[in-house]
Amino acid sequence: MKILITGGAGFVGSSLALNLKQKYPSYTIVAFDNLKRRGSELSLPEFKEHGIQYVHGDIRNPEDLASIPEFDTMIEASAEPSVLAGLDSDPSYVINNNLTGSVNCFNLCVRRKARLIFLSTSRVYPIARIEAAAYKEEATRFSFSKEQKETGISPEGISELLNLDGERSFYGTTKLASELLIREYEAFYGLDAAVTRFGVIAGPRQMGKTDQGVVTLWMAKHFWNQSLKYIGYGGTGKQVRDILHINDLIRLVDLQLHKIALFKGKVFNAGGGRKASASLQEMTAFCQEITGNKPAIGSEPANRPADLRIYVTDNTQITTQIGWAPEKSVKDTLQDVYKWIRDNERALKPILG
Ligand SMILES: NC(=O)c1ccc[n+]([C@@H]2O[C@H](COP(=O)([O-])OP(=O)(O)OC[C@H]3O[C@@H](n4cnc5c(N)ncnc54)[C@H](O)[C@@H]3O)[C@@H](O)[C@H]2O)c1
Repeated sequence: MKILITGGAGFVGSSLALNLKQKYPSYTIVAFDNLKRRGSELSLPEFKEHGIQYVHGDIRNPEDLASIPEFDTMIEASAEPSVLAGLDSDPSYVINNNLTGSVNCFNLCVRRKARLIFLSTSRVYPIARIEAAAYKEEATRFSFSKEQKETGISPEGISELLNLDGERSFYGTTKLASELLIREYEAFYGLDAAVTRFGVIAGPRQMGKTDQGVVTLWMAKHFWNQSLKYIGYGGTGKQVRDILHINDLIRLVDLQLHKIALFKGKVFNAGGGRKASASLQEMTAFCQEITGNKPAIGSEPANRPADLRIYVTDNTQITTQIGWAPEKSVKDTLQDVYKWIRDNERALKPILG
């Protein structure tokens, strides 16, 4: 198998590249990346060491894509992944990168007769519908109530049945537009594709920052004992996300690589699910326990644009139809992130510290 990973030096891309190469040494793996994300450059020496080819380039530039060696499967993992992108300034960058760039990737797949694995996002679901959901306030977190007006929302989380009408951020819209275009390529060009809407993904190698990668951010601030803030929803840190460990994602992409027919023409949600969900307050408790540090935590009651009180993935469809389910707990993920920071402290401090 010859696999091209666009965004191959980023968190998800580089984790896939290194894991797949270790599991399948005979596969050719090419990582293509413009190194826009700070910290992605740290992947390059590891690629060299493990026999992964690196091609520097930008998905917005078809000439860069044309120079890529032969491949039979593309994993499209390059993106501007911040939900805040383009919300307070010109959104051209996020649109060009995540939509025009993706279309260039789809065209390349068609030209090379390659299959496509596309990493979409839970952010395709409209903000107002999720925010209007009935919820309970518990001691350390918010949770979805049992009774809901909207189909697709339940205590298990958000399912694929949620109505897609409504605004969702430029990030979410570029991803949804890409999903819709993939359907056209499937129907009219015979593209084989697997599309998955992931919630929060976390684990070692994620270069967390304030607008993206909250799990690494939270652990890094605890590790270096630096102050943090609960922002939004009254500033009490009760907002909740489910957290998918990168290894659980890798297991799913491995299935998509080898059994793409199961995924054709479908779109699945995949995430940590209710059992692997945590509020910021709960993450603080885990981080304190793991690091032994108690950094000061400020409070900013006002919400930021595109905020969500609760997002939890309902994995029912993918589990019943495909047999995939997440295995790692929130604590497993935080522990693995902690070990990664501890073992790479010198290299990571300028980026995360
Ligand atoms: N991290 C999450 O929680 C999450 C959740 C759902 C979906 N996703 C999706 O997963 C994919 C990977 O995200 P990630 O967390 O690894 O992000 P990341 O920022 O760590 O990695 C993205 C990589 O793409 C590269 N890149 C950006 N623009 C590029 C361009 N124009 N040309 C070439 N390379 C470019 C960056 O340099 C970076 O190395 C994205 O498509 C993202 O939307 C991520």
